[in-house]
Order: sequence, then C-alpha cells, then structure tokens
Amino acid sequence: MKSDRVFVLILITILFFNTCSTDKKNNDKGMTNTQSEEEKYRPSFHFTPQKNWMNDPNGMFFLNGQFHLYFQYHPESSVWGPMHWGHATSKDLIRWEEHPIALFPDDLGTIFSGSAVVDHLNTTGFGSLENPPIVAMYTNHDAKAEQKGSELFQTQSIAYSLDQGFTWTKFENNPVIQNPGIRDFRDPKVFWMESDKKWIMTLAAGQETQFYASTNLKEWTFLSAFGKGIGNHDGVWECPDLFPLKVKGTDTTKWVHLVSINPGGPNGGSATQYFVGDFDGFTFTVDPKFKKDLQKEHLFWTDFGKDNYAGVTFSNWKSIEGNPLFLGWMSNWQYANKVPTHSWRSAMTLARTLELIKTESSFRLQSSLPIDWNPFVSKKKQIADTKIEQEQTILSTNTIDLSSARIRVDIKNVDPNKYTFTLSNQVGDSLLFGYDHKKQEFFIDRSLSGKVDFSSDFSNKLSIAPRFSNQKTLSLEVILDKTSIELFFDLGETVMTEIFFPNQPFETLSLSSEAQTKAVFSAELWELNPLKEEVK
Ligand code: FRU
Repeated sequence: MKSDRVFVLILITILFFNTCSTDKKNNDKGMTNTQSEEEKYRPSFHFTPQKNWMNDPNGMFFLNGQFHLYFQYHPESSVWGPMHWGHATSKDLIRWEEHPIALFPDDLGTIFSGSAVVDHLNTTGFGSLENPPIVAMYTNHDAKAEQKGSELFQTQSIAYSLDQGFTWTKFENNPVIQNPGIRDFRDPKVFWMESDKKWIMTLAAGQETQFYASTNLKEWTFLSAFGKGIGNHDGVWECPDLFPLKVKGTDTTKWVHLVSINPGGPNGGSATQYFVGDFDGFTFTVDPKFKKDLQKEHLFWTDFGKDNYAGVTFSNWKSIEGNPLFLGWMSNWQYANKVPTHSWRSAMTLARTLELIKTESSFRLQSSLPIDWNPFVSKKKQIADTKIEQEQTILSTNTIDLSSARIRVDIKNVDPNKYTFTLSNQVGDSLLFGYDHKKQEFFIDRSLSGKVDFSSDFSNKLSIAPRFSNQKTLSLEVILDKTSIELFFDLGETVMTEIFFPNQPFETLSLSSEAQTKAVFSAELWELNPLKEEVK
C-alpha cells in the first residue's frame, strides 16, 4: 500500500514538471497572454480596432485634412456577428484614431458595407451649402427575415452627418431601395457624376453589379447591370466601385470598375478583380481591347496576395494628378475568423494610389503608396550594388528592426533564376518571398512562418503572381508591419499583400539565388517607428 502511494506521488511529480516545461516551451514559442499578443501582433501603422472584430472598409472620405474610415465592426466579439460601422480618422494614413461607433443596427437590420459622400450642393436638403451634409449609403441586413426564409432581407438605406462624420442621423424613410428579389443585394458605392449632374451608385447583385442614378440620394432609378459572362464568377460579387481614371501620360480617361469576389481569388478565397472600360452615365462597357486580354487569361486583380479584400476608393479625394486612393481589408474569408489574435481581429491595408497604365495590348492598374515616410523613420541603412550569391547573402541583421520597416530593393541583370528573400528568426520561423524568372512569377511562401495551423487555407500552398514587366531590373518595395507584408513589384504593376504570425519577430533578412547569377542587388532599408510621433 505504502509503496503504491510513493509510486503515485512520483508519477504526479513527473507529470507536474512535465506540464510546467511544456507550458514554458509554449510560452517561449507562442503567445499565451494578451500582453505579448498585443506587442508582437498588433501592427504599428496599419489600422486595427482597439477591440474585437473588423472586416470591410466602409464610407471612406476625405474632408478638411482628415481621412475618415468606417469599417464593418462587431463590438461584442472577435468573430463576425451583427454588423455596426466603426469609425477612425487619420491625417497621414499612418496614425489612426478610433472614434465611437458611427452606425448601430436598427429595425431594418444590421449595417452592412457601403460608402459615404460629401453632399457639397446639399442635394439631399439634410444640411446647407455652408455646412454640406455627409451622406452614408449602406445595406441593411435583416437577419430575422433571412431566418424566416425571405429572399428580400438586404435593402439600401441612408444616414447623414452634420458634424463631418462623427455623429449620424438615419433617414426617416429608409430603406431608399427595396430588395427586388435578389439574395445578395448589397454594398452601395456612390459618387457624383459632374458631367451629368447626378449621383451614380453601383451595387453588388448576386454575380453581377448594378448601376443606379439619383439627384437627391433618396430616390433612385435603376440604370443597367454588368457582369454576365465576363470576369471571374467563382463566388459572389461584393463591394463594387466605379471611377474615372486618366491613362497615365495621356489625355484619355477610362472608367475602372472594381468588383470583389469571394471565393475566386487568384490564390484562393477573397480578392478584388477589375474591369477597364467606359461609362456614359447609364451603362458600363468594357473596353474591347481589355476584354480580349481578359478572355486570354484573367490577370486583372488589384492585389494577387491572399489578404486584400473589399477595397474601394475614398470619396472627395484625388491626388494632385487626379488619382484615387484605395484601401482594403487585410484578410481573407477563408480564415479571417480564426487568425491567432484574440482581443482584436484584422487590420486594413495601407492606402494606395491607383494609376492606370497603357500596356501593349490594353490597360493595367498600378498601385503606389502616397505616404510621406520621413517623420516615422528611426533608422536607415543603404547597401550599394552587391553580387547575389547562391548561398544566402545577409541583407540585414539586427541593425534594422524588421518588425516595422520599409525596404526598397533593385535587382539588376535578372537572369533565368529564382531569387528568394527570407525573413527568419531564432525559433525557426521563416517567410519567403521573391521572383522566379523562369516562370516569370512572384511568390510568397508563408507555410513555415510561425502560427499557421489555424487553417489549412492559410498555408497550404505558395501564393503566386505574374510579372508583367520585361525590364532587366526588378524593383521591389516591401512594407513590413509585424504581421503583414505588402509587396510592390515593378513600381506596383504587381502587388501582393499577405499576413503572417511568427512566434517571435523576424530578425534577419537574406537574399539568395537558386543557381549562379550575374545579378546584383542594391537596397535601402528604413526602420519605421510611427508610434513615437504623437497624433497631432
Ligand atoms: C464583404 C462582405 C460584404 C458585406 C459585409 C458584411 O466582405 O461580405 O458584401 O456587406 O462583408 O460584413
């Protein structure tokens, strides 16, 4: 009996010490408390809500020096649920300040995605010419009606703000557009068409988009539908946008129609495709040359990475050159609800200027960052032309904190070879990205980047993207912010955005080529520390 008890005691002791050491391992390798999750995973210059779930950007506009961002928000949980519009503002698109919730669910339903415009001419009568109202148009999603089996549970409503977007009043005669019998009928994006002196709205309707017109944002007339038999139809169409854009270096203006699709993205799940054509105030017609290109192979995505969805452009904003500003949700419906952050979920991408360039056969969108980085740079490093070795060439170690950094690299004399950048840390996590010249493809491989097992869709295959340029020099801009990488290849002709969750921050960046190469690289690295600067 006595020896039995001693045996049990020894067993308990062994078990106890084993558990402690496993916990220790988990603690060292993983994130078990909110403090370290906060430090290691919350981006420092991409917008994240303080708490809980966020998806699509909504109602973005610019006014009086401030960018307003609303977002699909579930204030009670870190997974998707009854949608509200959260709100944040920024003066520099880097430091964001979160404000109280802008729109709450009501009798017509929860508040799905939509847009906001500055009604300068007070066409609604909600404000005055001196104090023009901001008008938001959004989808009411009636979950109760849906549960009861109705098909008519999504309608469009409006709300207005007379204090520049901080507080809102819903229109008393909502909804302004009833559901015509289409299940997926949502995400209105409105703009003022100066030539026709009317508001135009584009809406996702099943696997098409629709266009409507109005003179007062309250009464809407159906104009036309777009999308049958063109583009990707592997999923539902969502969050459309339509805007004119000058073809770079010419006087020609084309219209660009963005359509998010889920699933159906080039690397699986959610992504945003686009169409280039003309809009006459009634109908969107795809440019014939663009159509031909699209029919050869669908390579028209605003971003080929897995994590840029539901992006649209800011209202009331144009760059000096007249280009729009675009921002997306940095996640993918395949795994958004499962990513390993718990107190908040999801970040937005950086805002990007969109340009339209003429290609040999038609047109292509190009993205660049309109950010003045100077105030946020805490360290700099420059590397002059250096031969790329087969063995890994160390580009930077602890001299620059790679958690929040901007890197510009040029690879000259690119030859049929594979060039791989590796971000790594001491616990064996690595994130690979680069260019395979034999395949003319860019790639990101996050299969060993840390926490990956929350979803097989997160890491089960390489993400790839085509190279369009045939220049001998490959230019690359990399933005790293703890859990995200944004890659702008060839000055933004190909863009890839992805998220990742390393067990410890990445400390080393290396570059290697698969075989011997004549290629050389040069680089500039900037460590970014936006949080040091006070929000003015
Ligand atoms: C896109 C989307 C929209 C919808 C919203 C709901 O991610 O599905 O179509 O309005 O999210 O949160």
